[in-house]
Amino acid sequence: MIPIAKPNIGKEEEQAVLEVLRSGYLVRGPKAKELEEKFSGYVGRKFGISTSSGTAALHVALIANGVGKDDEVIIPPLTFFATASSVLFCGAKPVFVDIDPDTFNMEVGKIEEAITPNTKAIMPVHLYGQPVDMKPLMEIAGKHNLKVIEDACQSHGAEYEGKKVGSFGEASCFSFYPTKNMVVGEGGMVLVDDQDMKMECTLLREHGEITTYEHVLLGYNYRMNEIAAAIGVEQLKKLPGFIDKRQENAKRLTEGLADVEGIQTPVIGNNGTHVYYQYIIKVTKEFPLSRDELVRYLTEKEIGARPSYPKPLSEQAILRTMGMAADCPVAREVLFEMMELPVHPLVSNDDITYIIDTVREVSRMR
Ligand SMILES: Cc1ncc(COP(=O)(O)O)c(C=O)c1O
Repeated sequence: MIPIAKPNIGKEEEQAVLEVLRSGYLVRGPKAKELEEKFSGYVGRKFGISTSSGTAALHVALIANGVGKDDEVIIPPLTFFATASSVLFCGAKPVFVDIDPDTFNMEVGKIEEAITPNTKAIMPVHLYGQPVDMKPLMEIAGKHNLKVIEDACQSHGAEYEGKKVGSFGEASCFSFYPTKNMVVGEGGMVLVDDQDMKMECTLLREHGEITTYEHVLLGYNYRMNEIAAAIGVEQLKKLPGFIDKRQENAKRLTEGLADVEGIQTPVIGNNGTHVYYQYIIKVTKEFPLSRDELVRYLTEKEIGARPSYPKPLSEQAILRTMGMAADCPVAREVLFEMMELPVHPLVSNDDITYIIDTVREVSRMR
């Protein structure tokens, strides 16, 4: 089976983990600091605050930006659950702005309609590895005095107008979950430029503890452990190479599938680079099989294809229960056509040829 995702771990990570185990420092040691400095430097931000997950990073960043009870935060309906749950953890309300049907990112032109006197922040999600159209988004945020917290959990290394995603707005958040473009196991990071915000994020991450056993705010235990951080340091060195391979695989998939009737290959929006956390195609009615039939066929042929999210986040049961569900028709409709093909760095050139040939073979079954 060609898996849809697989962490790319080598001897370097194994060695780094061994060194941590032998050092005696399993938490609060030098590796988390090293990763914070190197990753914030890579993205182009002043400070990094490592966390136990991307979800924890989002939670900390929202609180540090003053998001609290009854505030509203604008998010897209097509994203992982944590984009909404982190807002809910703060007692705030996620307000959904529908997506662009081609790039699958938040339709920036629809943000202003969603702003109310309670809106506190916009949380754009750079979905599947592709940047949101940040220039108009930042202008809207400036005009309405809103904070911008980027959910860059799927887009390590992607660029918008020559700047890395994660370097816009007040704060940005990353995940290093095992499927991501760089991994640590479970882990995440908040990036900020402001010294006071860095301090607040650090306190929120560590029990609000300013010196030993002195607690000045209600913090959490959201630390990244040293084993994870050591893996992260090695993964960061390899990240540019991983991205190159993802982009090369994606380019070949696109070249091989572009002329297949009923398949829409990824659309690259304005001014951005795509780092292909996921390679998403749309299967339209012109294709001889439905999206689900194609997924089944490819699975039988040992290709780990799968549908993307089953429904918009705005329709999840918990949001209905909380009275916060919303109707996002573009996301709902487009999701039925969307599916993921393997694109990660461990997908070989031969695998790519096999995926292209197999999809083309089906397209001839008329
Ligand atoms: C867009 C998005 N936001 C947030 C998260 C949460 O990250 P984590 O799984 O590390 O908590 C993820 C990842 O899984 C994600 O894809």
